[in-house]
Amino acid sequence: QKPVTLDTAKPVPTLPDAQTVTDVKHYTDRLFSFRVTRPASLRFRSGEFVMIGLMGDPDPKTGKQKPLLRAYSIASPSWDEELEFYSIKVQDGPLTSRLQHIQPGDDLILRPKPVGTLVHDALLPGKRIWFFATGTGFAPFASLLREPQTYEDYDEVIITHTCREVGELTYGRDLIEGLKQDELLNEVIGEGFWKKIKYYPTTTREESPKMGRITDLMRSGEAFADLGVPPLSPETDRAMICGNLAFNLELKDMLEEYGLVEGANSNPQHYVVEKAFLD
Ligand code: A2P
Repeated sequence: QKPVTLDTAKPVPTLPDAQTVTDVKHYTDRLFSFRVTRPASLRFRSGEFVMIGLMGDPDPKTGKQKPLLRAYSIASPSWDEELEFYSIKVQDGPLTSRLQHIQPGDDLILRPKPVGTLVHDALLPGKRIWFFATGTGFAPFASLLREPQTYEDYDEVIITHTCREVGELTYGRDLIEGLKQDELLNEVIGEGFWKKIKYYPTTTREESPKMGRITDLMRSGEAFADLGVPPLSPETDRAMICGNLAFNLELKDMLEEYGLVEGANSNPQHYVVEKAFLD
């Protein structure tokens, strides 16, 4: 007689809001990206973020485990069937010290409640959009650069990315190169869409073709001369800022000096700002 197999052998989900990792790529000892399954019910606007994480260590007294969550910009566009994230690795960071070791097949927690200010709805119509990023602040722009609306709404799309070292530019550079082959954008916008993009990568601590902080390069006028565009103006230019805190604040002041006004979902204006989510 055959033994009866009970269905209890099925793995019991141990995480609330669990999603499965499908791909992981490491860029430097400080940076990696990963893709996870997308909850069927999750709708979001390109540029928004969600809370993701892992179960924390058990409490020494109670033995109970609590989720350890951080805000992560979704780096994939709103139409993608999976979700992509781009993350820093902090060796003693509570979450990323562990998250950096995830492998395809692992589960992580994803709270399906997207929010954020880096969305097209928070900006008035304009001619040119600037995406200003430092480090992993590139993530929401990785989403917006793959979003057809970006090219429908603007004649010109300028993405600046300032990093310490050359290797930290790889994720963004690969993404922009890949846009040329993007089937959806080619179909919806036409094959000339990627010619609207101007990519301006700069490094501050390692030799590269363009050195310096974007803020300094704008103040000196060098960035505008290189890009062949005039300084920003509220009549024509819209901007989104995502980087470290000092960068966000400094650039926000500069944009205000150009006459741009900060917008929000409820009050669309000329620019929006968000901080990169560090461990
Ligand atoms: P720098 O090397 O001169 O500090 P981080 O890795 O520390 O988040 O920095 C990412 C990039 O952002 C670095 O190239 C850094 O330049 C740059 N950065 C830091 N603060 C500012 C700022 N206030 N304005 C412009 N760029 C900044």
